[in-house]
Amino acid sequence: MEENFDVLVIGGGPGGYVCAIRAAQLGMKAGCIELRGALGGTCLNVGCIPSKSLLNSSELFSKAKNNFNNIGIEVDNVKLNLKKMMSNKTKSVQILTKGVEFLFKKNKVSYIKGKGVLFSKNDVVVYHEGKKTSYKAKNIVIATGSSSVSLPGINIDEKNIISSTGALSLEKVPNNLVVIGGGYIGLEMGSVWARLGSKVTVLEYLDHITPGMDKEISKEFQKILTKQGIKFLLNNKVTSVTDKKNKVIVEFIDNKTNEVKKLETEKVLVSVGRKPYTEGLNLSKIGIKKDKAGKIEINKNFQTSVDNIFAIGDVIKGPMLAHKAEEEGIAVAEILAGQSGHVNYDIIPGVIYTSPEVATVGKTEEELKKSNINYKIGKFPFIANSRAKVNNESEGFVKILADSKTDKVLGVHIIGPHCGDMIAEMALAMEFGASSEDIARTCHAHPTHTEAIKEAALAVDKRPIHF
Ligand code: NAI
Repeated sequence: MEENFDVLVIGGGPGGYVCAIRAAQLGMKAGCIELRGALGGTCLNVGCIPSKSLLNSSELFSKAKNNFNNIGIEVDNVKLNLKKMMSNKTKSVQILTKGVEFLFKKNKVSYIKGKGVLFSKNDVVVYHEGKKTSYKAKNIVIATGSSSVSLPGINIDEKNIISSTGALSLEKVPNNLVVIGGGYIGLEMGSVWARLGSKVTVLEYLDHITPGMDKEISKEFQKILTKQGIKFLLNNKVTSVTDKKNKVIVEFIDNKTNEVKKLETEKVLVSVGRKPYTEGLNLSKIGIKKDKAGKIEINKNFQTSVDNIFAIGDVIKGPMLAHKAEEEGIAVAEILAGQSGHVNYDIIPGVIYTSPEVATVGKTEEELKKSNINYKIGKFPFIANSRAKVNNESEGFVKILADSKTDKVLGVHIIGPHCGDMIAEMALAMEFGASSEDIARTCHAHPTHTEAIKEAALAVDKRPIHF
């Protein structure tokens, strides 16, 4: 049986499912094809959500073990029940993926299970449990996301050599874990296992962690994680990983000396980035072009080289972030409805959910220098923020970069407690074109961590009160 859709979305992750719901809200007949057996994509199933569950649980474990006694909560014999921690994570994931199914029903979006393959510019064939079903669509949106990349010759088997997926479901805390790549995944998952008792070593190719992030924040971040027991070996290129079953040997070259070095470890997490997932979609047959990095080429309206086929999320350019994909999903649905959907790529926040968190939005100092933009800096440390101080979480600082002439806020970079939530205030301010003076004159509740933002804004004009 053939069914006709106004919009058929391939991929049920944060980009795809949000696009389908928005299209349905706008009166279109929308369908969403998903092969995983659960909606929510990498983010809900094997990414953002399960990792945040483990980050939260492992942080509570570490606090109960190391910090509670200091504040008069006496807990003896704190023990880890990893199985229970994992089942709590699985439960949260299931509740949320079922929640998306409920939203589909509520909005009358058809949930089509299986692997979608483009057959022509208006036809998609879905393969599911040995059956093949054809669907017709006026418009198609490709939102098939990304998959982990490995390094040449390294075989990720999700046993001893794992990707982020394997790192989310280890059955036992490894004695040691080598993390290849000091980016988002390596540092979040490295933190989880370090808190649960592993000796974690991060091997990074560059001379700093978190590439692309404001350098001052990145340096402070590394210092704090080092204090937490994570070891960093920077400037090293991993060349091979060999699984000897009872141990794994990681070989790497020191970029400065060319010396070949080795590490022995129980597990290796390969977190060196992700690549667009477009395998088996039949893109070239339909005439959809990809760039050198394998990303689908689009115009400013997210149209691919085939005019009724659109692409969003990790398969196109830009940061591979769930919230960026969501914005694109909404924009495409609105464009299809004749509205002027758009995404402001200058104001996409990024958060690393370690402890403390790291959150950034807008331009870094390095980017401003490179573009010859003159800027002023306002900084404020959490050690001078009363709420952070009483909570014994006073590491880190807020850094605001504002245009020297106009005072317009160009970038905000924070390392500190709860800054993943605080960054929303800065994204909103920047969307409204705020100056640092606007932020400095906004009344912030006391005592809150957000006062550090107000103080950093005051510091842009060299007039902080509490520092
Ligand atoms: P990433 O791009 O953040 O970091 C990869 C790191 O690996 C880089 O620092 C790179 O220099 C290093 N590297 C590459 N080749 C290497 C080699 N041969 N030896 C040593 N180091 C090497 O990638 P990651 O952490 O895998 O994350 C993938 C994507 O997932 C990112 O785009 C990120 O945006 C997203 N993500 C976002 C999260 C969040 O929003 N909190 C959490 C997890 C992932």
